[in-house]
Amino acid sequence: MCAPHALRLGTVAVMDVVILPTPEHVAQLTARLVADRVKSKPNLVLGCATGRTMEGIYGELDKLADADQIDFSRVRTFNLDEYVGIGGSDERSYRHYMHRYFFSRVNIDPANTHVPNGLATDLDAECDAYEAAIVAAGGIDLQLLGLGSNGHIGFNEPLSGFQSRTRVQPLAPHTREQNAGMFGGDPAKVPTTALTMGVGTILDSREALLVVTGEHKADILARSLEGPVVGVITATALQFHRRCHVITDEAAAAKLSLKEFYRDEVSHLPVWRGYLQALD
Ligand code: GLP
Repeated sequence: MCAPHALRLGTVAVMDVVILPTPEHVAQLTARLVADRVKSKPNLVLGCATGRTMEGIYGELDKLADADQIDFSRVRTFNLDEYVGIGGSDERSYRHYMHRYFFSRVNIDPANTHVPNGLATDLDAECDAYEAAIVAAGGIDLQLLGLGSNGHIGFNEPLSGFQSRTRVQPLAPHTREQNAGMFGGDPAKVPTTALTMGVGTILDSREALLVVTGEHKADILARSLEGPVVGVITATALQFHRRCHVITDEAAAAKLSLKEFYRDEVSHLPVWRGYLQALD
């Protein structure tokens, strides 16, 4: 019997696709995996994502922390992205999102949390410093990722280079529409640019979790995982990631043509079986 996590550790893995009944199961399993990584490495470098999908995951991490099952005191975090022109105290910022859903709820040291500064006077220097800080921390151990409905990861919009690093990125009209909720529902009020880790930065993470829920993501998830690797869908770059797991609900998995194969494969892997059995 393989010990949990020993399986394929340190090797180039296939991309496991774990399909669960509901978004709540997705949040539970993802949080437990993060918790286990923190237990194995208390000073884990965790890459954080934002968006509606992540809210449930941070909620579950909060519950685990309350139950004393996870200690964040030495964990370091690096967020994927931030809007340009919006400060950390502004409730529309991703810094504020992280404070609200995660940092204020667990025993993380604020000094260990990093979100790009969208108000930096020299944005290019801010991006270079962000990359340097990731390197100084020893690189990202585990990167959480959501999926934009145009296939972006972080704010890497279509045709972001697959070797791109943290940089200033103009936002696609589609993204500004999708993210208008925090800006009074008006896409014109969504900043036109953001700072984002690059695709190359994300590919450098030692492990990644792509978390996708909802039927509105079914088409883009299928194109990201099973379609050809194309620059217009930056999530397809994850097919080159050394150890990327995809955690999805049934609704988002609906258009995966090899769904039953993924299910069967995962059911044979002790590392996933343990997590699946532990779900409520
Ligand atoms: C934003 C973030 C992405 C995130 C995406 C999906 O655009 N920059 O990192 O993946 O939203 O968000 P949601 O989970 O709300 O669909």
